[in-house]
Amino acid sequence: MTINNWLPEYQNRVNESILQYFAINEKSYKSAIELDFFSALRHAVEWWGKRLRPILAMLAYEYISWKKCSDEIVNGLIGIEFLHCYTLVHDDLPSMDNDVLRRWKPTVWKQYGETMAVLVGDALQTMAFGQLATLGEIQIITEMAHATGEKWVVLGQVRDTLGDQWGFSLDDIMRIHDEKTWGFIASCLVIGGIVAWANTNQLDIFRRFGILLGRAFQVRDDILDYEWESGILWKTVWKDQDQNKWLVSKFWIDETKKILEEIGIQMDEILQDLEDLRFMEIKEYVMERKL
Ligand code: IPE
Ligand code: IPE
Ligand code: MG
Ligand code: MG
Ligand code: MG
Repeated sequence: MTINNWLPEYQNRVNESILQYFAINEKSYKSAIELDFFSALRHAVEWWGKRLRPILAMLAYEYISWKKCSDEIVNGLIGIEFLHCYTLVHDDLPSMDNDVLRRWKPTVWKQYGETMAVLVGDALQTMAFGQLATLGEIQIITEMAHATGEKWVVLGQVRDTLGDQWGFSLDDIMRIHDEKTWGFIASCLVIGGIVAWANTNQLDIFRRFGILLGRAFQVRDDILDYEWESGILWKTVWKDQDQNKWLVSKFWIDETKKILEEIGIQMDEILQDLEDLRFMEIKEYVMERKL
């Protein structure tokens, strides 16, 4: 099995569910301003994104239940993607990373204006919890609220954008990576497990694997920012250097790659307890991804 044998199918399922969500809701937007808002919302979520986070939840669910995710479950899990898209829309704002390109398109603020982008992010965040609630487990809501809230994603973004980057040590940077990215990624696996009634031990393995996967994901993101090849142009690169962020600009590319390798070795240990080749393939994908 290789990741290309199954990843596109999972991405399609997430994309179809998202399209269906917007198709159902389209009718409620009629005036010019409403249509502009709706168009901005779709711009933020629709094609193209890797959909990694809901897919991690799908894999965890299938691993525990030995069943394929139903359409209803995928429909609930797209809440994860709404939440992720909100973080991206706000991350790109002029007052944050001031980015103009995302997923091969102009960023939401660039296309629809800054005020609309703030409001699109607000809407996506509440849409996310509405969608996750359809899964019927209160623990899912508390898990996601915690992982993306004031102690994790938002606090990481506060440090990232407002902290004194000149003074950061490697530990400070890894802490920001952890807050911005790992809590959320680990929670995606945990949520898939919760939907499948996983036991505490199984949830613990998902969390430990997700933490390392999330760390690797953000370290790889920093490497990609540095090692951009012309032609890919799916999001702005060399941003981190311009803004004196993060690993690569501080610790050089070889050191950063070594950190990624070490995280990979730690993941291999946990993978011995996860008997599904797809987790190994996801690990390799995250560590080697080009997008
Ligand atoms: C980008 O996330 C933000 C980070 C945490 C580095 P992704 O690389 O998953 O973005 P999409 O969803 O595929 O566009
Ligand atoms: C974004 O990190 C993390 C969140 C959105 C929480 P980055 O700023 O590195 O993400 P990109 O590179 O813009 O996708
Ligand atoms: Mg950022
Ligand atoms: Mg950014
Ligand atoms: Mg980045």
